Amino acid sequence: MKSTILVLVWCCVSLVNSDEHTHTYDENEEVVLWMNTVGPYHNRQETYAYFSLPFCVGSKQAISHYHETLGEALQGVELEFSGLDIEFKADISATPYCEIELTDDKQKAFVYAVKNHYWYQMYIDDLPIWGIVGESEENGGTVNHFIWTHKKFDIGYNGNKIVDVNLTSENKVRLDLNAKIPFTYEVNWRKSPIKYEDRFDKYLDPNFFQHRIHWFSIFNSFMMVIFLVGLVSMILMRTLRKDYARYSKDEEMDDMERDLGDEYGWKQVHGDVFRPASQPMIFSALIGTGYQVVTVSLCVIIFAILGELYTERGSLLSTAIFVYAATSPINGYCGGSLYARMGGKVWIRQMLLSAFLLPAMVCGTAFLINFIAIYYHASRAIPFGTMVAVTCICLFVILPLTLVGTVLGRNLAGQPDYPCRINAVPRPIPEKKWFMEPAVIVGLGGILPFGSIFIEMYFIFTSFWAYKIYYVYGFMLLVFVILMIVTVCVTIVCTYFLLNAEDYRWQWTSFLSAASTSGYVYLYSFYYFFFKTKMYGLFQTMFYFGYMALFSLTLGLLCGTVGYIGTSFFVRKIYSTVKID
Ligand SMILES: *[C@@H]1O[C@H](CO)[C@@H](O)[C@H](O)[C@H]1NC(C)=O
Repeated sequence: MKSTILVLVWCCVSLVNSDEHTHTYDENEEVVLWMNTVGPYHNRQETYAYFSLPFCVGSKQAISHYHETLGEALQGVELEFSGLDIEFKADISATPYCEIELTDDKQKAFVYAVKNHYWYQMYIDDLPIWGIVGESEENGGTVNHFIWTHKKFDIGYNGNKIVDVNLTSENKVRLDLNAKIPFTYEVNWRKSPIKYEDRFDKYLDPNFFQHRIHWFSIFNSFMMVIFLVGLVSMILMRTLRKDYARYSKDEEMDDMERDLGDEYGWKQVHGDVFRPASQPMIFSALIGTGYQVVTVSLCVIIFAILGELYTERGSLLSTAIFVYAATSPINGYCGGSLYARMGGKVWIRQMLLSAFLLPAMVCGTAFLINFIAIYYHASRAIPFGTMVAVTCICLFVILPLTLVGTVLGRNLAGQPDYPCRINAVPRPIPEKKWFMEPAVIVGLGGILPFGSIFIEMYFIFTSFWAYKIYYVYGFMLLVFVILMIVTVCVTIVCTYFLLNAEDYRWQWTSFLSAASTSGYVYLYSFYYFFFKTKMYGLFQTMFYFGYMALFSLTLGLLCGTVGYIGTSFFVRKIYSTVKID
C-alpha cells in the first residue's frame, strides 16, 4: 500500500515538475549528450534503445537516468548517457572515444541496421539531434555496407544558453568482419544570434503546416459550416412551422375525426420519444465518457496553444493523462445522471463501466502492442513501474473521482423532467422506406463530418507517423469547433427524418450516426498507410492499426456524444412546444 502511494506521489510530482533543468550553463560546465533511440527510418514508432546496437560508450563515467515523466516512459524515450565529454564553450578537435571490434554478430547487427536505414536520436539540452547509422553502396554487383564513425557537433550558444545543435556524420568505414572500428567526435562552439525562446523553430515546418491547402481546407470547412447551419435552421424552421400549423389544425377536429384523420409525423411518437434507450447502462457509460473526452480534448488543445508543449518530450501525453484523471467527475456526473434519468438501478456497475471504459480500451490496446514490443525488445515496451503508476492512477484517482461525480449526478440531476409523458405500452414502429432505417442513417451520418476534417487528419497523421512536429494547434481548435457544429447539424437532420418516420429510437441512432465519422477516419487511415507511408514489419503495422483503431474509437465517442447532446436539446425543444393532449 505504502509503495503504491509513493509511486502515485512520484508520478504526480513528476507530472507537475517535469523540467528540473535550468538550461543555463557556466563556462566549461558539463553538457550531457543523451543517447535516445535507434530504429528504421520508415517506422517511426519502432525504436530500440541506442545501445541495443553494439555501439560503444565513451570513457566518461555514466550518469544514471530515470524516466523523467510518465509521458516519456509511455512514448519509449530511453535516455542513456553517451560517455562523451562535452563542456560548455570548450571546442574539442577530433578525438577518438571508443573502438569496436566487429565480431560476427556485431557485424550482422550493423549490416542489418544499415540495410534498414536505421537512424538514431540524441539529445543535448533537450534539443533533439538525428544521425544516420550508415549507408550502403552498390559497386559492380556487390553491395557494401558502411558505418559513419565521426560525429561532428556544431553547437550554437547565445549567452549562457544552448540554442542550436547541428550534427554532421563523417568518415565512413566499411563493415568488414573482424575489423577494428574507432569512433571519434568533435565539438565546435559558435556564437549564435538565435534567441533561446526560438530555438525549436528550426524543427517546425511552416511550409508544410501552413501550406495553402491547409488554409484552403479550413476555409472550405468553414463555408460548409455556414451553409449547413443555414440549411438546417431553414429546413427546421419551415418544416417545423408547417408541422405545428398542421397539428394545431388537428386540435380543432373532434376525436372521431382525429382517429380517422391523417395525423402523421414526429408528433405521433410523443409518448415514446423519451422512452429510455435500450441498453441504458452501456449508453450512459458511453455518453459520460464522451463528455469527458470532449472536455479533455478541448483542454489539451488549449494548453497546447498556450504552452508550446512540443518543446518538451512527452509533455503532451503527460498533460492529457493528468487532465483526463482530473476531469473524471464530469464522466461520473453526466453518465450517472443520464442513467438515473433512464431509470437505471444498478448504478455501481454503471459507474465502474463509465470509469474504466476508456482506460480499459487504451490499456487493452497498449497491452497488445506491448506484448509485441517486448518480443521485439523495442524501447516502446512500457516499463513495469509505469504500468503500476498508470494502474494506480486508474484505481486511486479516476475511480474515486468518477464515484463522486456519479453520486452528485444521481442526486442533483437524476430526476427525469421530460416534457411529455411516456406511454406504458411502446408504440409499434411502422414500416418505412429503406433509407429511413436507422442503420442507413447511421452509415450516412458520418460523411459530412468526416469531409470537414479529413484534410486536418492528414496533417495530424503525418505529424504522428512521420517526422513532423505538429504545432498549429490553433488550426486544430478551429477544426474541432467546425467538427462539433457539423456533427450537431447533421445529427439533428437525421433525427428529424427518423422521428418523422415515427421511429422513436433516436438516442442510439443520433449517437451512432455521429460516431460513424470515426469509421470513415479508420478507413482513411488504411488509405494513408498504403499510399502515404512506407512502414513495414509486424511491430509497426500492429502499432499503426492498433493505435489508429483507438484513436478512431475515441473520436467516435467524442462525435457521438456531441451529436447526442445536440439532438437531445432539439428533441426536448420540439416536443415541449407542441401541445399534447
Ligand atoms: C546549423 O546549420 C544551419 C543550416 O545549415 C546553419 O544555419 C547554422 O548556423 C548551423 N548552426 C551551427 C551552430 O553551426
